[in-house]
Amino acid sequence: MTQDELKQAVAQAAADYVAEHAPEGAIIGVGTGSTANFFIDALAPLKERYRGAVASSEATRKRLEGHGIAVFDLNEVEHIPVYVDGADEVDAGLNMVKGGGGALTREKIVAAVADLFVCIADGSKLVDTMGKFPLPVEVIPMARAHVARQLVKLGGRPVLREGFVTDNGNLILDVHGLSISDPKGLEAQLNQIVGVVTNGLFAMRPANLLLLGTAEGVRRIG
Ligand code: 5RP
Repeated sequence: MTQDELKQAVAQAAADYVAEHAPEGAIIGVGTGSTANFFIDALAPLKERYRGAVASSEATRKRLEGHGIAVFDLNEVEHIPVYVDGADEVDAGLNMVKGGGGALTREKIVAAVADLFVCIADGSKLVDTMGKFPLPVEVIPMARAHVARQLVKLGGRPVLREGFVTDNGNLILDVHGLSISDPKGLEAQLNQIVGVVTNGLFAMRPANLLLLGTAEGVRRIG
């Protein structure tokens, strides 16, 4: 199976999971990236079942609306039973590195509101220790150099994501060279750096369920 076929399989499994676990008329949280895009496509045939969605990025909002799925401002929404999103890395504790697509801040906000976080990923994303994938950190532009110096002190090698501005008007530093043995501790530490908007570690709010695409089928972890 190709990587896209694995992503499609987990996206379909997630759409089935949502149909089973979210009540009719619910508003669904939708993530960002190529796997999330397959999920949006799998959700579309069931769109009459839901009131709509909250999008974690402008790209996702456009794709949802392209399918005729109503997109709500999060401030208008009290309850999101389930949030479905991909990851760049995920470990056995369902901690994740996210933000390869640069949408980490809105992803973390929607995830914070949702009752359940379902992570969808092809098998290559499951790792023993996170950190091989450079950790995205969203920063306020005027704090870029300050934050980069603090990240170096923590043992990382921050690299500015060239030509990229987030949906929130900020920059991304991709931090190489971190071996993330304490995901929750590092997430908290990075949050303390003045000028950091969000870091791509999702450990304080990990996934509740991982749907992992493998050649043998979709594995459910969690
Ligand atoms: C975007 C993300 C994505 O979930 C992550 O980058 C995985 O993307 P893909 O499904 O394309 O591999 O965090 O900010």
